[in-house]
Amino acid sequence: MELFDAIDSRSSAARLSEPGPTPLHLERLIQAAGHAPDHGRLKPWRFIPVNGAAREPFAIAAANAKRLRVPTLTDEQIQLERQKIMRSPCILVVGCAVKKDHAKVPEIEQVVATGAAAQNLFLAAHALGYGVMWKTGAAAYDPRVKAAVGLNADDHIVAILHLGSKVE
Ligand SMILES: Cc1cc2nc3c(=O)[nH]c(=O)nc-3n(C[C@H](O)[C@H](O)[C@H](O)COP(=O)(O)O)c2cc1C
Repeated sequence: MELFDAIDSRSSAARLSEPGPTPLHLERLIQAAGHAPDHGRLKPWRFIPVNGAAREPFAIAAANAKRLRVPTLTDEQIQLERQKIMRSPCILVVGCAVKKDHAKVPEIEQVVATGAAAQNLFLAAHALGYGVMWKTGAAAYDPRVKAAVGLNADDHIVAILHLGSKVE
């Protein structure tokens, strides 16, 4: 797909079905993401694929974190949180591992660079024909969810990208 066509036709895919990106495509998408502009070449981004069997522990961690954030939720509501993750063929968490107090590159620039990487990935996935939905929500700011994907509490989850085939 031509670049301007990809940019102009990009939209979120509210519903996704199997299959998710092939391992080769996933690798290619992550490579494309890493070409984002990056002040100081810090490569602050982290791409954490959560697909296949890895979805279950992540879904449980997200659901448990929600239970602790909102103790009044019913079991059914917690179950829904879990299903939101299990429904997507592939989740790619885009994290920013911040280098605190960097002499030249403030934290906001590291986060912005990571956002640019996430958008590269989104457009590249769209160009390959996949559906994508960029989410965050309270889960993205929860230290327990960050820990579940190997991030520190003061790192950032910039995107929880849901990837799969588009449902027409
Ligand atoms: C940083 C960021 C976080 C977002 N988080 C959510 C989210 O948690 N839930 C949601 O429904 N949409 C979220 N969105 C918005 C959607 O991804 C989408 O961009 C928006 O609904 C507009 O639709 P479009 O992408 O088709 O133009 C987020 C977008 C960004 C950039």
